[in-house]
Amino acid sequence: MIADKVQTLLLFGATGDLARRMLLPSLYGLDADGLLPPSLKIVATARTDHDDEAYRAIARKALAEHVPADFYAPLMAERFVKRLSYIPLDAKDSKGFAKLAERIDPAKGLAIFLSTAPTLFEPMIEGLAAASLTGPKVRMALEKPLGSDLQSSCEINDAVAAAFPEQRTFRIDHYLGKETVQNLLALRFANVMFEPLWNSTHIDHVEISVSETIGLEGRGDYYDGAGALRDMVQNHMLQLLALVAMEPPSSYDATAVRDEKVKVLRSLRPAKASDVVTGQYDGYAEELGRASDIETFVALKAHVDNWRWAGVPFWLRTGKNLPERRTEIVIQFKCVPYSIFATRGATTQPNSLVIAIQPDENIQLQLMAKTPGLDRDGIRLREVPLNLGLANAFADHRRRIAYERLLLDLIEGDPTLFVRRDEVEAQWQWIDGVRQALGEAKVQPESYAAGSWGPSAARTLTKKSGVSWDD
Ligand code: BG6
Repeated sequence: MIADKVQTLLLFGATGDLARRMLLPSLYGLDADGLLPPSLKIVATARTDHDDEAYRAIARKALAEHVPADFYAPLMAERFVKRLSYIPLDAKDSKGFAKLAERIDPAKGLAIFLSTAPTLFEPMIEGLAAASLTGPKVRMALEKPLGSDLQSSCEINDAVAAAFPEQRTFRIDHYLGKETVQNLLALRFANVMFEPLWNSTHIDHVEISVSETIGLEGRGDYYDGAGALRDMVQNHMLQLLALVAMEPPSSYDATAVRDEKVKVLRSLRPAKASDVVTGQYDGYAEELGRASDIETFVALKAHVDNWRWAGVPFWLRTGKNLPERRTEIVIQFKCVPYSIFATRGATTQPNSLVIAIQPDENIQLQLMAKTPGLDRDGIRLREVPLNLGLANAFADHRRRIAYERLLLDLIEGDPTLFVRRDEVEAQWQWIDGVRQALGEAKVQPESYAAGSWGPSAARTLTKKSGVSWDD
């Protein structure tokens, strides 16, 4: 782990949507809680011509709009914006980078955050290298999309590696910054009762679902080149799958955790087209302004081919314009091996563990209990939830934006919650295989009504295996 805190944070793409909605509010939150190094300067850059004051005005507006009202304090915002300065820069013009070097001393520690189109990654890195802004105390954080397939991802990774060794490259998957996602590790490895059951002997299947109510939200140009498989499954969902399926790491550190995740990702069985359903919501083409055969929904069956998970399907489902915003993992256990209640007319349901990630943060274990009564007509059993509402249990803790955690880890140099090159490439390799299988089978997305749970074929897909989604 690199322990030094940096003294400068350089934000590329500083006027963009991510910066205004997430990065500035996150940095404000860290500053308000006294977590930023006191001398940390934030140098913002983008193409538009602004001076420091004009950018501070943009930042003030972004904070007023996006920081939750009960946490927003104008005086605090004023203190925060004083850390900001702005340098306009055309990333394709290498001369511009000299201006950055005049204001930044990389020897004092510099973290660079690239929140720009990936086509700019290469010229930016060249510009930074030419201006000597890539030295041993400089870290680089990159936002997705990191390529659109394995090959383009490798090209980006090679370009980055030319200037930044892997231990100073921080690839962001914002799901890893979510408190409930990190809590998966606590649930699995800080409790004794789950791990002995966490395998194919006791688990029937796993469901991971990320449903969204939003549609394109003006991101048509990007989204139509990606689709649900590459926008959500390649990164966030495979990371969730890896955290659910990985072996216990020997410690909670960057190498141990990422070593275990990558083993899972490399154990994913190449998918067959018959295990995948894709869909597109009605009205997508109108919203986009042209016809398209990109998928806005995908449901698929994955297998992790190793001893622990042999024969256990991992069902993944994600889509836009679905009825609810919900990210959830369901661990469906098997039935008891023999029911002593069968002779008394009672049926038992298999237990399930529902890990709700958002919007509710909550862990629920469905257990069988006896319905009160004298049982003259036989015993009746019913599922009752054992509920752990994390929001209530930790009501005195502020709920943070995922980027707060990631930006602080970047500033302090802890790569544990960032995606290593071998992980991202294993993810792409598997996704490329899915896309190739769909292409060869000439599968086209089926249409589904906006606000529904996707094409009916998604339900048929799971039903064939006797599974139904937790709708
Ligand atoms: C992004 C995708 O990575 O994640 C978006 O590009 C998606 O399409 C978003 O809406 C979902 O993130 P969250 O945190 O709202 O679940």
